[in-house]
Amino acid sequence: MTEPDIKKGLAGVVVDYTAISKVNPETNSLLYRGYPVQELAATQPLEAVAYLLWNGELPDAEQLAELRLTERAHRAIPDDVRTTIDLVPLDAHPMDEVRTAVSLIGARDLAGSGSVLDASGSPEQNLERSIRLFAVLPAIVAYGQRRRRGLEPVAPRDDLDYAANFLWMTFGEEADEVVVDAFNRSMILYAEHSFNASTFTARVITSTLSDLYSAVVGAIGALKGPLHGGANEAVLHIFDEIGSAENVGAWLDQALAEKRKIMGFGHRVYKRGDSRVPTMKAALDTLVEHYDRPEVAALYDALESEFVARKGIYPNLDYPSGPAYNLIGFDTLTFTPLFVAARVTGWTAHIMEQLTSNTLIRPLSEYNGPDERHIDGYVADT
Ligand code: CMC
Repeated sequence: MTEPDIKKGLAGVVVDYTAISKVNPETNSLLYRGYPVQELAATQPLEAVAYLLWNGELPDAEQLAELRLTERAHRAIPDDVRTTIDLVPLDAHPMDEVRTAVSLIGARDLAGSGSVLDASGSPEQNLERSIRLFAVLPAIVAYGQRRRRGLEPVAPRDDLDYAANFLWMTFGEEADEVVVDAFNRSMILYAEHSFNASTFTARVITSTLSDLYSAVVGAIGALKGPLHGGANEAVLHIFDEIGSAENVGAWLDQALAEKRKIMGFGHRVYKRGDSRVPTMKAALDTLVEHYDRPEVAALYDALESEFVARKGIYPNLDYPSGPAYNLIGFDTLTFTPLFVAARVTGWTAHIMEQLTSNTLIRPLSEYNGPDERHIDGYVADT
């Protein structure tokens, strides 16, 4: 019998076409709809990048204004969703809170929509649902952080763009321009990354002709894991453990002896460095300067150079974004929900793309359990 050619973790398997983004590990580049991500991060607000991911082109001034109008109109958390968030235990992970909120938003929106045969929705309905989720997620994430800190929620502000309003709702004060800019860049870098685990999860769910909200809820579940989105949170735990730059060598000796994975390093696709890291590292540098925290940069640099020298494994986006979010003032547990708020743009673009040429995603497995056997005394009906 010939051995089947099993690709564990689907590593190296190309499962479909996508026109949304291109990850090129050879040239260490990432394009969204053809545009290098670092150019988008340097020149665009996240709203324009969301428009690009959904529609294929950057918006003109009028199209951006229209998107912003809709986004601003849907920023507030509906009362019953807030009440439901309050039922999530305060010591549950905020990703559970976000997942629960999105699930209820979906149930409210789809109520009365009829049979499962109509669940997948029209392109217009799905674009509208995508914009609404994009609009409300910052309030959900901000509310979660404030709830855990015992603070009152802060209402959204119509006069602020997405990134500035997100920071306003989280901290209750207007952020400095340099902070808004670094945060906006991070969100653009997180927005899309082809067939990563959470996006693929969303596409699998969509391929059954289920609804957009179910696909996003599933994607949130996939993103929570520390091998994927949870790594940005895990980087800060590592920084806390190490303490300061001079402890890096001894800490790394022990961590590697214990065969620990060093969070924020390594990538399934990029083996010579993540294309997003230089842009995010530059944003982190501006924050280090702004907050006058050179010891953060020292620890970052020491761990990076020591780990790369020892293992030849490079940082991924979560390595600079973790300390950047920490400097801005986000709680460590809020980091992965921030990733959700950004990546919902990519997920929903993929959900809509999957529906344009859908085939049920249903791979095969090779059975390696016990040979056929039978229940003692069982006599088959004749
Ligand atoms: N620390 C220590 N060793 C590592 C690391 C790491 N961060 N990453 C890879 N390796 C080692 C791994 O142990 C293995 O060694 P060996 O061949 O001796 O068993 C070798 O490198 C190959 O690693 P792999 O786990 O087989 O590679 P993969 O492509 O399956 O995994 C990864 C990629 C991201 C899961 C892995 O690098 C990892 O666990 N990194 C830490 C978690 C992390 O930072 N995740 C964020 C990923 S990027 C953002 C996102 O997409 O969410």
